[in-house]
Amino acid sequence: MSELVSGPTWHPPSTAASAKTASALFTAAFGGEPSGVWAAPGRVNLIGEHVDYAGGVCLPFALGHRTWAAVRPRSDGQLRLVSGQLDEPWTGALADVAPGHPAGWAAYLAGTAWALGEEGLLSRGFGGIDAAVHSDVPVGAGLSSSAALECSLGVALLDLFGGGAGALDSPARSGLVRAGVRAENEIALASTGGMDQATAVHARAGYCLRLDCATFETRQLPFAPAGHGLAILVVNTNAPHRLVDSQYQDRRAAVDRAAALLGVPALGRLESVAEARSGLAAVGEEDPVLLRRVRHVITESARARAAADLLEAGRVAELGPLLDASHTSLRDDYALSCPELESAVDASRAAGALGARLVGGGFGGSAIALVGASAVGQVVTEVRAEAARRGLTEPSFLLAEPSAAAGRG
Ligand code: GLA
Repeated sequence: MSELVSGPTWHPPSTAASAKTASALFTAAFGGEPSGVWAAPGRVNLIGEHVDYAGGVCLPFALGHRTWAAVRPRSDGQLRLVSGQLDEPWTGALADVAPGHPAGWAAYLAGTAWALGEEGLLSRGFGGIDAAVHSDVPVGAGLSSSAALECSLGVALLDLFGGGAGALDSPARSGLVRAGVRAENEIALASTGGMDQATAVHARAGYCLRLDCATFETRQLPFAPAGHGLAILVVNTNAPHRLVDSQYQDRRAAVDRAAALLGVPALGRLESVAEARSGLAAVGEEDPVLLRRVRHVITESARARAAADLLEAGRVAELGPLLDASHTSLRDDYALSCPELESAVDASRAAGALGARLVGGGFGGSAIALVGASAVGQVVTEVRAEAARRGLTEPSFLLAEPSAAAGRG
């Protein structure tokens, strides 16, 4: 395989190497040593896409690729933030954090510190921090690099200022899911739904989460594709995310509108498309676009429940048709695909993948393919060749191995 796929992202770098990189970045920026290094994973969603903000069911798992935060407390109320991958450093007071401020990547970190405070999860002794972050999660690839940022710093703050509440068995960890969502919704001004933060906080190595987004209850489902002679290949299309923010808002607004018209709290809980349609018709709503959005949410949540049943029965190899149907629904009913994702999905299937679909927000980012372990090289070759034939940006690849949640590195 190594002759086919090289580069830093195929397997995650070793924990020791990444922790050291974050520490070195810290020392170069601030001098001295950090109090510790914490990390949080990116994620792949096996199925159940664009249903988290509709109270549906999804099955995400954590990647081995993580974002690392080297952190040390301050006593003057300042937050000083640097990143190895992203833009300029940011310095400001906690009191300066407000909707839209700071902008860019620092919003996710400063927003998490602010939201943990708002949630009452930081002690009165909190007097600011120096933090240096280094990310092995590809940025802008639809693999949840923002939640990895939030949760890497979040577990650090819970450990340092929340009485050790960052520990894996601490009930206060659920507060970090809420805080991460608030950082995105209220400070970064991205109206995302919570799947990414729940995965970073609750994932377990060798498991997929069954996340019910109506209640945020989780169940751990064993998921070790390698044990079935299979792999989950991630194809990062490297396509720019086009219109992703405005289109995301648009889908979310459609879902909220349909739920309000139907008088239900969670569209993703409904089981019958026909009943939803007749309910909407009864209040005079027959917009075909809205009806397609509703059909996606209801059928996608049903597919995720069916996939969870397959995982529970150990029937991993039978997931393919559900993944394919998810992609069709996201492309046709939710209109989220783009030429790069179509190329990746078509070529994966043509090269023998059991199923393939776009993951994450859409309009670029990544696709996943369920592939026989011995066919991974062939699928990589074909996906790359097809992108070249269609004149598209060269994709990159990584292997998704269900990995552990955020914690001390
Ligand atoms: C993004 C958001 C998530 C979720 C997915 C689509 O990753 O952050 O909350 O809505 O898109 O499933």
